[in-house]
Amino acid sequence: MADPTPNNPETPAPQPEAPKPAAPAPAPKAAARAAAKEAPTRRFFLVRFFTSSVAIAWTSFSASMAAMALGTLRFLIPNVLAEPPSQFKAGLPDNFEEDKVTDRFKDQNAWIVRHDGRIYALSTTCTHLGCTPNWLEREAKFKCPCHGSGFYITGINFEGPAPRPLERWAVRIGDDGQIVVDKSKKFQQERGEWSNPESFIKV
Ligand code: FES
Repeated sequence: MADPTPNNPETPAPQPEAPKPAAPAPAPKAAARAAAKEAPTRRFFLVRFFTSSVAIAWTSFSASMAAMALGTLRFLIPNVLAEPPSQFKAGLPDNFEEDKVTDRFKDQNAWIVRHDGRIYALSTTCTHLGCTPNWLEREAKFKCPCHGSGFYITGINFEGPAPRPLERWAVRIGDDGQIVVDKSKKFQQERGEWSNPESFIKV
C-alpha cells in the first residue's frame, strides 16, 4: 500500500486552486452597440424638448399674428348691421273695420287703427319709458303694464305717467292698393303733426 505522505513520490502533490477566469471584457463592438443604443434616447429627448419649445413658440407667434390681422380687418371693414326693413305692407284698407285696432303687426311695432274715417298706424312704444302697452278691447284703450299709462284708441294719453300721446308712423296706399306703413317717418300729436296727410289714410 502506498504511503500517502507528501514525501512519497508516488502520491500526487495537492494542486493550488486555479484562479477563476475573469469575466471577459466587453468586446469593443458590443460597447459601441450599447453606446449607440443609449445615444438615440438622449438625442430623442433633446430633439423632443427643442421641437416642442419651438412649436409652442411658433404657435403663440402665429396666434398673435392672426389676432392682429383680424383686428386690422375689423378696423378696415365697418360693421354692417342687418336692420329690419322700415316699411311693411299691412293689407287692403277694406280689411280693417271701423273702431277696431289690429294687433297683427305688433311685432313690427305698429297697431293699425281704423277710426273716425281714417286709418293710421300707432307706434307700440309707450311714451313713458318705452314698454309695450296692450290693447284692451272691452275697455277700448291701450294700457301699459309697466306703470299703468292709458291711451285712447287715437293714441292720446289720459292716465298714468306717460307725458304725451303715442306716436304715429307714416302710411300710404301702395301701387297694389295695400296700406304701406313707413316707420322711417313718425308724427307726434303734441307737435301738431297728426294733421300731416302722410300720417293717415282717409277712407
Ligand atoms: S313705460 Fe308705460 S307707463 Fe311706464
